[in-house]
Amino acid sequence: MVKLIIDKLSLLKDASIDIIKKYQSDSGAYLASPHFAVYNYSWFRDGAFIAEAMSASGENECALNFHNWATRVILEREEKISSLIKRQKQGETIANDEHLHCRFTLDGKESSEAWTNLQLDGFGSWIFSLDKFLERGNTLPPSTFRAVETLIAYLATFWQIPSFDWWEENFGHQHVASLGSMVAGLSRASHWPEISSASQTLATKTACDIMLHIRSRGLIDGHLAKWIDGEGLDASLVALIAPFALFDASDEIALSTINAVSQTLGRLGTFRHLEDEYFGGGRWPLLSCFLGLALVSMKQIDQATEILTWVGSLANEKCELPEQLPEDLQRPHMRAEWIARWGEPAVPLLWSHAMFLSLYYAIRED
Ligand code: BGC
Repeated sequence: MVKLIIDKLSLLKDASIDIIKKYQSDSGAYLASPHFAVYNYSWFRDGAFIAEAMSASGENECALNFHNWATRVILEREEKISSLIKRQKQGETIANDEHLHCRFTLDGKESSEAWTNLQLDGFGSWIFSLDKFLERGNTLPPSTFRAVETLIAYLATFWQIPSFDWWEENFGHQHVASLGSMVAGLSRASHWPEISSASQTLATKTACDIMLHIRSRGLIDGHLAKWIDGEGLDASLVALIAPFALFDASDEIALSTINAVSQTLGRLGTFRHLEDEYFGGGRWPLLSCFLGLALVSMKQIDQATEILTWVGSLANEKCELPEQLPEDLQRPHMRAEWIARWGEPAVPLLWSHAMFLSLYYAIRED
């Protein structure tokens, strides 16, 4: 029985690597999902976690191809970024869509489709994934360090502006998961000898300022809150504990956040948040994997393995993992409306496969 489960997980591990490689474009971009039209783009957020998972799986060339694509996307916008920074310093109003977009076409262009493009978390998460890539002994070209220096200046200037959250919703707040993603990238890049000391100092200062902000105004009832001065809860907050490790696993804030998310949003199947209406508001396996990573950091390996095994049981006959599950919806009446608008929800979702891989290797390495 145990052997059967291990074989199944190992099969899904191999299939996940194949699926991610299959849907990586020649440009290096990862398609979020192949058969769901609105996801035929590459997101910085998804891509950062996918590249990290591929690197953890030993597929460093695949990760590097994404990093090179992302580097090109940023460097092609260097002038735009310095102009945005200048305009902000002059007190000009900048429209949301003038900012860097959260997703790009596979050849690195902005989409003309209307979208909630202003999301700053992906740039921080990308820098975090670059650092993990370097930690494993890989190297990056000078152009990538230059792109990161550009992003440090961008994030240092704009981290306080209201944006959309990880779920591309709720404009108008400083989202704690987005702030944490920026800290994750900035604090790690601040140690890189390949960037100038001015960029190192700026990255350190910005990361500290954001962290202080989170600690003073981003908590509710002892756990991380969905947004600054807010009361809500969101499963994306788990990322601040793992993989970002902004809070030690023994920290009360980490423990309260993990408990709140597990108890309120679920552990074997995790809702994004309690107001979710997207395709009826189902449970997201990838978010259970984030919880699994946090449990690994707390040395709760049995519980983390239970999550991995459960996620392993969700793969369809083609070994594909979905974005969300169709059962146990929070708002079942909304599902048909979304299907009429955008078609059946995304399967496979590359980010789901990535989080399965990250949890698989985290458990093995512990
Ligand atoms: C999710 C985003 C994700 C995108 C592509 C959206 O529905 O809310 O977090 O980046 O899908 O996977």
